[in-house]
Amino acid sequence: MSILGIETSCDETSVAIVENGCHVHACVVASQMKAHRRHGGVVPELASRMHTEALPRVLAQAFREAGFGWEKISGIAVTHKPGLESALLIGVTAAKTLARTLRLPLYGVDHIHGHIVAPFLGVLGSSMGTIPFPHLALVVSGGHTQIWLVQSFGEMSVVAQTRDDAVGEAFDKVARRLGLGYPGGPLVEKYARAATEPVVLPVPLRHDPVSFSFSGLKTAVMAEIASVSRENGDQPLSETAIANLSQGFQQAVLQHLLDKLGHAVVTYKPKAVSITGGVAANQYLVTSLREALQVGAFRHSALREPSAKAVLSELGPIPLYAPEFRWCTDNAAMIAAAAHYRRSETLVHAYRKLEVTPTGC
Ligand code: KG4
Ligand code: ZN
Repeated sequence: MSILGIETSCDETSVAIVENGCHVHACVVASQMKAHRRHGGVVPELASRMHTEALPRVLAQAFREAGFGWEKISGIAVTHKPGLESALLIGVTAAKTLARTLRLPLYGVDHIHGHIVAPFLGVLGSSMGTIPFPHLALVVSGGHTQIWLVQSFGEMSVVAQTRDDAVGEAFDKVARRLGLGYPGGPLVEKYARAATEPVVLPVPLRHDPVSFSFSGLKTAVMAEIASVSRENGDQPLSETAIANLSQGFQQAVLQHLLDKLGHAVVTYKPKAVSITGGVAANQYLVTSLREALQVGAFRHSALREPSAKAVLSELGPIPLYAPEFRWCTDNAAMIAAAAHYRRSETLVHAYRKLEVTPTGC
């Protein structure tokens, strides 16, 4: 039997049908990106109207892709937090209606738990034993930057998080100031490939092992842009200058992620690390993190102390799990899978009690 997942927390309308938290029979995603692009970010009212319009079509297409009907669906999972309130409401209302009409169990899923399960979608068997626990999950998206300690998919907690902006948000803001467009992450990554002399930018918060911060780094990029423009007599930035700023930004982000991840590795001695969320689509970051975890190469001075070095050498190479590209950004397959692994925690006993909890997108 399969769980049907619904995701409408931000600007993607998605429905998926997933068996045993692993086998994805269908996952349809209708992205609203083009509609929001001209506003430079997600407009909540537009997002909820577009979810309402798209959901029936996306649902029908998911069943067409799966090749079977409701008879094989054992429950309905829906993202109910966090996200844009008006957008979450569309998915939650649809899920409640379907569950009630079809007399199916309803599961209310935390979007972040979905991202944490995503690297293991379709990769491993359905047995819990094949997923490495405990592992650390680095959640890097447009709304979140956190490290979670995942003892099992039923028992997980945040061990580090951002004090201000999320990393994806910083990518988007830097891209906007470089004149690259929205969403910024993929464009910054693309331009950075042509860098010849990456600009050296300060790595934030080196003294605090459990906090991320991206607002200072973003300001440092803005200051560099202003200074390069001044030197050029206020001409638009050249392609080379954009490339060098983009790669300088990526290098500082990488080092910042490595500082906190290294500390968490030494503290919690995980069997594996996963990276997940929209920013996990960044191949430069994923490849560099994978290399660092293979050899335990963390540049932070505290991680080069003998005691930390001893732990790292005892742990040996640590595997990095990254989702397939299609599971990096928001999708309903990860929501259905999270409901499967967290059935007892997510089951909603009285439909009326399932409420949406916003707190950013
Ligand atoms: O997980 P996601 O789809 O939505 C949230 O839950 O926030 O993440 C979207 C974020 C955007 O900020 C986008 O710029 C970023 O992921 N992103 C990237 C890349 N692709 C998407 N950031 C860096 N490099 C990329 N290749
Ligand atoms: Zn997300």
